[in-house]
Amino acid sequence: MNYPVWVVPLLGTGWVVGLIAITHVPLSHFAVGGGLFLPWAERKALREGRRDWMPMLKAHSKFFLILTGVFGVATGVGIWFAIGLASPEGTSTLIHNFVFGWAIEWTFFLVELTTAAVYYYTWDRVSDELHMKIGWLYAASSILTLVIINGILSFMLTPGAAWLSVAGTGNEASKFWYAFFNPTYWPSLGLRVLICGSLAGIWALVTASRIDGYEQPELKASVIRWSSRWLIPAFMLMPVFFAWYIHQVPVEQRGLLVMGISTIGQGVFTQVTRSALITVMSSATIAAVVYFLAYRNPRDFGLGHAVAVLAMAVAATGFTEQAREMLRKPYVIGQHMFSNGIRKTPDVERLNREGYLTNSVWVRPEEKELWAKLDAARVPGAVVPAADPGSQDAQARLTRGELMVRGQCFACHTLDGYRPLRRLLAGRDREAIGNTVKMLYQYEESSPYRKYMPPLVGTEAEVACVVDYLDSLVNVPGAKKGAALAAAPTPVSAPSAGGKTK
Ligand code: HEC
Repeated sequence: MNYPVWVVPLLGTGWVVGLIAITHVPLSHFAVGGGLFLPWAERKALREGRRDWMPMLKAHSKFFLILTGVFGVATGVGIWFAIGLASPEGTSTLIHNFVFGWAIEWTFFLVELTTAAVYYYTWDRVSDELHMKIGWLYAASSILTLVIINGILSFMLTPGAAWLSVAGTGNEASKFWYAFFNPTYWPSLGLRVLICGSLAGIWALVTASRIDGYEQPELKASVIRWSSRWLIPAFMLMPVFFAWYIHQVPVEQRGLLVMGISTIGQGVFTQVTRSALITVMSSATIAAVVYFLAYRNPRDFGLGHAVAVLAMAVAATGFTEQAREMLRKPYVIGQHMFSNGIRKTPDVERLNREGYLTNSVWVRPEEKELWAKLDAARVPGAVVPAADPGSQDAQARLTRGELMVRGQCFACHTLDGYRPLRRLLAGRDREAIGNTVKMLYQYEESSPYRKYMPPLVGTEAEVACVVDYLDSLVNVPGAKKGAALAAAPTPVSAPSAGGKTK
């Protein structure tokens, strides 16, 4: 494989991206929604002769400039750094396809950020008319950033049949527009616009909450009521767009969602279902809080309330994004590239034939040679004994197994932290681990693993090393029996545990 593997203990690389994204997504969507909110609010104030709105709008545009121009930008660049490290192969595919998309995107970014700054610094310095124009230019460019990036993000979930038909041929860019306006493009754009609108309303509530409701009750009430209305479209249309969105995701990719819903009765939630439920519940809570605390009682609506609403909105957005990520599993680019960077075709077949580590540019040639020699010395097809753990062969096998697991499993698992392999495998003996690995390797149509895990690839010798390594993680040689007994729920039968009883 072409890239080294970035190992992040405990957290896993996915969560590094996730944590940055959770900060970035509410800010970026606010940047788009707020870009529309500010000139719209200014227009309303001008038309209705409400000069008293202006100081608040000016303060809001400053807050907005700092929040999006500093934190939004820093986290946005951070995401690209992080995904470049976490999924280099996937990032490379995106760049090869969408390099002009990005060029366009960055042009809009530049216009957006410049106009955001100009808009703030020209309050009270240019005519109302010109200021409005700057505002609209800013709104247009910020919407356009979403229009572009949405094509790339939705592509990762549903690249679409046209693009998939040329994937891997080197001719992918010929289907640029099919990839861009892919099956989930429009519903996803709709959803994101709605989220942008409601976040703009919620962030405006944060600024408005700081107006003294006893000194300026009418001003505070009018701003809060008008801002609250920005949440209405989302609550009315979100379910429609969401249903459309899910409908556009290929059935085989909806597996996790369906699996979660059909097992709710037994109290088992998949992460997708859990995220979806959290989104629905926090949205309902936001609606109730905004209506009863802000809309009905604007004078007493304080910063604490606003921040609480914001926190719920951030949580809802974060979990929605997580559900989208989960929906994509086991792919990083739907139906094309698995989360670990291996392409469904032709990589799987080729790596099974030629070997996974053999194809890695990050394994030293002398190591590859040694491994080939050790493999050749073994009787073909023979079951490898858990031989002398100190032998060169045994050590090499553990190293190979570890490299296989790092390269193929660490996109989604860690050893002891997030989705910990050691815990997921705990209690399985060597044979059971062998069966798990075999299921991943054979990857049969009926295998439940297909819903969320890619196939394990490599030669049979490499796969045997994975068994050795995983076995060494959970089954400490010699201590097997004792450990199993100590973990057993009824220690009565454990002969050595009967020491001191009170
Ligand atoms: C695309 C992401 C992804 C990759 C790559 C991946 N897994 Fe998983 N794996 C998952 C998810 C999601 C679960 C379900 C976790 C849970 O139940 O909390 C899971 C569960 C498991 C389990 C427990 C399921 C069971 O009962 O058998 C094992 C064992 C496991 N994975 C091993 C592996 C190994 C070994 C590899 C590498 C060859 C691997 N996984 C690669 C996503 C992945």
